[in-house]
Amino acid sequence: MSESIEEYLSEEQIQARVAELAGEINADYAGEALTVVCVLKGSLLFFADLARKLEGDVQFDYVAVASYFGGTESSGRVRFLADLTQPIEGRHVLVVEDIVDTGRTMAYLLDVLRRRDPASVHVVTLLDKPSRRTVEVDVRYRGFEIPDVFVIGYGMDVNERYRQLPYIGIYHA
Ligand code: IMP
Ligand code: MG
Repeated sequence: MSESIEEYLSEEQIQARVAELAGEINADYAGEALTVVCVLKGSLLFFADLARKLEGDVQFDYVAVASYFGGTESSGRVRFLADLTQPIEGRHVLVVEDIVDTGRTMAYLLDVLRRRDPASVHVVTLLDKPSRRTVEVDVRYRGFEIPDVFVIGYGMDVNERYRQLPYIGIYHA
């Protein structure tokens, strides 16, 4: 095996940006009840770090949506593996995503959630690869804009590996 990982965003860089994002979100939702939705599994670590910095009346929920079925290339298909545990009708919803790449996963998810008549739905993504977009997605909060590289760590995987890394690295196969 000749794979290697090149550190791209350090733990310190990530944590500093997560704190800034939490500040923006707290200012925007001050006084409002909010449901934050973790998009499993890739957003787990980002969600946990962001959520503990949120103030006010916050509820947690999660969904699992799969768009990748192995390797570093998207299959282009999206599957709903697990749904929210609570209704969102009339609630403000913030979807917490690890990375928006082609945009297919988020577009699909937003479509499903909007049909349930929430008060609002917005997206916070830690990483954004705008050069890869094939479907337009309205991302309200983004941590870092990155080029077309395949990243792992801080929740993100290649074939389910390396999610546990506290930093984000570029994966070289
Ligand atoms: P999209 O539907 O193409 O936007 O893909 C979004 C999902 O694909 C993300 O939520 C990730 O789970 C996964 N993904 C996209 N790019 C990468 C990457 O560079 N590393 C790891 N997972 C990725
Ligand atoms: Mg994801």
